[in-house]
Amino acid sequence: MRLNIQRLSQDGSVDRVDSFEVPESEGMTVLDALLWVREFKDPTVGVRYSCRRANACKECLATVNGQRTYTCIVPATDEVLVEPLSHKPLVRDAVTRL
Ligand code: FES
Repeated sequence: MRLNIQRLSQDGSVDRVDSFEVPESEGMTVLDALLWVREFKDPTVGVRYSCRRANACKECLATVNGQRTYTCIVPATDEVLVEPLSHKPLVRDAVTRL
C-alpha cells in the first residue's frame, strides 16, 4: 500500500506530503502503517497513540482520506492520505493537540 503523510511543522518551515510504499499485512491499520514507516523509513514521522485498537485513548485521531477517524482502527487500503485534524492546534505532521 502507499501511505501519504502530510508533513507539517508549527513554524511553517515544513509543508509537504511524503509518500511511502508499505508492505501490506492482514488486518493492517493506518496506525500500523505509520509505525512501520517510522521504524523502517523515517524516524522523524510524527505518530501518537496509546491504547492501540482499544479505541479508548483517542490519541491517534487524524484525518484519513478526508475523514476524521482513529488511525488505530481504520484499515490500511491501497492508497491512504493522513493529515492533521483541521480544527485542532498542530503538534507535528498529522498529530494535533487533543
Ligand atoms: S490508539 Fe487509542 S484510540 Fe487509537
